[in-house]
Amino acid sequence: MVPAVPTLPVRFSEACERNKEPILLVLRDWLPPRARVLEVGSGSGQHAVHFARHLAGLQWQPSDRAEYLGDLRERISLEGRRDLAPGARLADPIELDVDRTDQWPQGPYEAVFSANTTHIMAAASVPCLLAGAARVLAPDGLLLLYGPFLGGGVPTAPSNAAFDAHLRSLDPTMGVRNAQVFTEQARSLGLEALADGAMPANNRILVFRKRGAVHSSIDISSVSHLNNVDDAGLIIDKVDNSTVALAETIEVRPARELFRQ
Ligand SMILES: C[S@@+](CC[C@H](N)C(=O)[O-])C[C@H]1O[C@@H](n2cnc3c(N)ncnc32)[C@H](O)[C@@H]1O
Repeated sequence: MVPAVPTLPVRFSEACERNKEPILLVLRDWLPPRARVLEVGSGSGQHAVHFARHLAGLQWQPSDRAEYLGDLRERISLEGRRDLAPGARLADPIELDVDRTDQWPQGPYEAVFSANTTHIMAAASVPCLLAGAARVLAPDGLLLLYGPFLGGGVPTAPSNAAFDAHLRSLDPTMGVRNAQVFTEQARSLGLEALADGAMPANNRILVFRKRGAVHSSIDISSVSHLNNVDDAGLIIDKVDNSTVALAETIEVRPARELFRQ
């Protein structure tokens, strides 16, 4: 007998189900209207479908390595063609291994998003992700990275330390990345740290902006979503170490969920 409901792809992430709503709240605050977004390492595609169903005008491009593409394409074709938010579009997934310069699409994108990938990809691939994002982002475009991170002025949760040890025991090239090292790599590639927000289950979202337009007249007192400038200093991972640099790199926009500790 033919089932009335198509069988869902094998790949399914419980974690995605738990974190898709908190991440959506952050994306709502940061993405400009009608943003073109490239997602790196889309995995099961649950994030792509959820965001395209809730963010009007969103233009979302999922991607992953070859071994994930079959399931990803299946989910997008089964779930990603209905109930989309007004004006939203979910493109067919493309193959993208961050190491393969030739697989990166042209862009430009207003944002590059990736969840739970930096601790899974090899350490040597992390700079490839940053460099690729820097290449395809439009000036002022955002890189948003969700997942576990260590360091950067945030106390290490025992669960993240244990997760890091577990990953390294499986494969020494994997591991939970240090946010401060990450932020310094990003800066060297033209990506300024904007925010480091706490998320459920000891995860974080790191937000970077591709240096582009001039941001010369930001009034630090108007950055109302931050608790205070000292908090902002922590959030920015102390990379800048100066309020002036901080003022230059902070986007003045509501980000209440992102900065709720
Ligand atoms: C734990 S899964 C996360 C999937 C999905 N983003 C999520 O949140 O459920 C890790 C993802 O990282 C991707 N990944 C690992 N190395 C990669 C690389 N070099 N280039 C692109 N994606 C990579 C995997 O293919 C996989 O989709």
